[in-house]
Amino acid sequence: MPKNNIPFEKGLPLLGNLIPYSKDRLSWLSKLSDKHGEVFKVKVGPKEIHVAVGKDYVRHIMVKNSQNYIKKTNFEMIFGKSLFITNGAEWKRQRQLLTPLMNLRYLESCLPMMDEIITKNLHQFEDSLDNGKNLRNLFSKITFDIIMSCVIGLDYEDDYEHIDKGLAVLTSFVTREKYAVFNLPGKLDKEKKDFDFYMQKLDDVIYNSIKKTNKDKLSFSFMNQLLEFRDKNPEEKISDTFIRDNIVTVMFAGYETSALSLSFMMDLLLENPHWLNRCTEEMRAFNLEINFESLQQLPITEACLFEAMRLYPAGWGFTREAENDDEMHGISVKQGDIFLVSPFLTQRSSLYWDNPETFDPNRFLGKKITEELRQIYFPFGLGPRMCSGMNFALMEMKLILLRLLKNYQILRTGDRPLVDARATLMSKNGFQMMMAKNQN
Ligand code: HEM
Repeated sequence: MPKNNIPFEKGLPLLGNLIPYSKDRLSWLSKLSDKHGEVFKVKVGPKEIHVAVGKDYVRHIMVKNSQNYIKKTNFEMIFGKSLFITNGAEWKRQRQLLTPLMNLRYLESCLPMMDEIITKNLHQFEDSLDNGKNLRNLFSKITFDIIMSCVIGLDYEDDYEHIDKGLAVLTSFVTREKYAVFNLPGKLDKEKKDFDFYMQKLDDVIYNSIKKTNKDKLSFSFMNQLLEFRDKNPEEKISDTFIRDNIVTVMFAGYETSALSLSFMMDLLLENPHWLNRCTEEMRAFNLEINFESLQQLPITEACLFEAMRLYPAGWGFTREAENDDEMHGISVKQGDIFLVSPFLTQRSSLYWDNPETFDPNRFLGKKITEELRQIYFPFGLGPRMCSGMNFALMEMKLILLRLLKNYQILRTGDRPLVDARATLMSKNGFQMMMAKNQN
């Protein structure tokens, strides 16, 4: 008979472990993962959370019995009822409808625009006052412009600062709400006011683009594909709200994650100059025509990127809630139990990795990501809800790395990043690095 005697870190009455969780959740969870191993339970504020680190537990939740472990997140406040949020039949319908639109033809058609955006931004950043302060700003600007052009199909140069700040305010509010023990009444709550303000702004941008996009020059954009699909398939009854929800989702899911992954990779390359040199040599020797296929032929850079995403997965953790009672490798699960699955914890667990804290791209060099490896390495998630933008992200990141390392040097200008696990894995003190044009 399964028992529920898994280790439980209860913490203080009422607060649970809210203090260590809010202070530095990753160090705290990592210590508990070392102490308790594959699965344990923590109390954070009013919530009890099961933390699944072991591969059998992760696989059970995300793959084998994934239909019983559903997403329940307050990101619905931003994303509405999009692919990222919904469950069951509605999620399946959206996944079947949207994933084919991110096909190879679409990806290839994005490449010239991506390349133009990357080259323009690198050139501008080279002389900007920002260069040297936070390299993440460069990557964010590039990936944001790419999402705006390739997904929404519009040139958003002027609105960048506004929307970038808006996205940060929205995300921070949602993550605060999640573990808040006491909430202030709406009127006193400045953050709620900011949230409403930026939400309205974002909605205006999207709904205006839905009206404009068909006439816009960037006809390959994801939004245009969706609008064309709607015209050809009226029986699908695709509403403006459906389009708004999924476009906002892709904006959030698709730009900061890639920018942060690249930022952490640059930090690791600077710490490991041998690998930086190898990547740079590989990029400088690259002379193929740029397309999806040729970007697969960068084994050293790809191994470094994969290893960086092992140590610093931008989506560091995601939660699931049990819809029904279940049994899982010796523990009994009750309806409503909450599980945290964390690539950060599993990908650094000494249960599966030798010297897990060491940056060693040889782990991935010349190797395929097999089903077996995917059980312990899942920066893009796993199972049916795996990231639908993975190929987009990998293609975009490799192209950015190609243009950057071929033409520029990277230098450190300050301290290494201090990891900060919010909705995504960020750095408290930014990424203090700069780029300088190659002399030769
Ligand atoms: C390095 C970049 C990226 C990382 C690390 C990443 C990571 C992830 C992860 C871990 C999940 C699964 C979350 C869960 O199971 O709860 C996910 C889902 C998703 N991602 Fe990404 N992502 C990245 C880029 C992108 C891009 C560029 C797009 C779109 C263009 C995108 C769109 C999505 C969507 C729509 C989902 C939800 C899929 C579903 O629930 O069926 N992501 N991503």
